[in-house]
Amino acid sequence: MPAARDQTGVARCRVVVTGADGMLGGAVVEEFGRHHDVRPMRRAHCDLVDPRCTRDWMLAEAPEIIVHCAAWTDVDGCEGDPERAMRENAFATRNVALAAQRCEARLCYISSDYVFDGRKEGAYVEEDEPAPLNVYGRSKRAGETHVLRYVPRSWVVRTSWLFGPGGNNFVATMVDLVRRKDAVRVVHDQVGSPTYTRDLAGALRTLVQSEIYGIYHVTNSGTCSWYELARAISHCLKAPCRVQPCRSEEYPRPAARPANSVLEGRYARWSGLPTLRPWHEALTAYMEQLR
Ligand SMILES: NC(=O)c1ccc[n+]([C@@H]2O[C@H](COP(=O)([O-])OP(=O)(O)OC[C@H]3O[C@@H](n4cnc5c(N)ncnc54)[C@H](OP(=O)(O)O)[C@@H]3O)[C@@H](O)[C@H]2O)c1
Repeated sequence: MPAARDQTGVARCRVVVTGADGMLGGAVVEEFGRHHDVRPMRRAHCDLVDPRCTRDWMLAEAPEIIVHCAAWTDVDGCEGDPERAMRENAFATRNVALAAQRCEARLCYISSDYVFDGRKEGAYVEEDEPAPLNVYGRSKRAGETHVLRYVPRSWVVRTSWLFGPGGNNFVATMVDLVRRKDAVRVVHDQVGSPTYTRDLAGALRTLVQSEIYGIYHVTNSGTCSWYELARAISHCLKAPCRVQPCRSEEYPRPAARPANSVLEGRYARWSGLPTLRPWHEALTAYMEQLR
């Protein structure tokens, strides 16, 4: 029997999404759900650090594609508990990779700009050597290595500075702060590309329809500092709050952050995948949706 197709003619697949209750996982469930048969996987179904549970759950669902969004994303928390970070981000990812291998599923793993140390002049490209500065980055890099080792039909998608509905993120925090405060100080010496989870979910769907496996950098277009992002949020809200720049040293945190988080998505571009819109357009869309 020929495969069922969605309204655009794409074959419907059975897709498991891990971390389905998370910020990106929720957007992926929504986006993929319009085109595919989606099985959201939540911690309540299975803790991914349990290899047997992960394998058995995946075997029962028999996915053709797994989008692995689950991770312990508390960067400072990871710094304080490296063993838990490795268990939840590296070992759990190995469990997912081995389960994908067993099910003969293709695997899309979400990774991070934090695999780089941020010392490069200019944007990071897919061939750049990872050198994480912090525990979270090391645990995400270890996850990448497991995926690439165990699942030849896999995509490793590095993204950065996510914002969107249903999660703790800088934009949501800043919306709250600029509404309540007269002034806020925000670091100006870390640059990156803010990325809307809905735009990323759309790009992931296009990517997994391809058979072009490997590492990809996917973010909204353009770059800014956290300070510039905070100013754009304040401007969008027409808030009277004064947003002032400061340096990272003035705002010490347990985990070091890369100064340069800018990812260039040249492999996606060379593969003919659409470029994501500028981050400020995506920010406006998200802010409108917040109202
Ligand atoms: N946020 C960013 O700015 C950013 C930037 C670059 C890359 N990324 C990557 O993008 C992905 C999604 O990030 P996000 O911000 O959307 O994450 P999130 O909102 O923190 O959601 C992560 C989800 O994964 C679940 N999870 C974690 N460990 C699990 C386990 N052992 N078993 C089952 N479920 C588990 C969490 O459940 P609990 O709530 O129960 O723990 C949560 O629902 C992650 O891989 C992250 O590393 C994020």
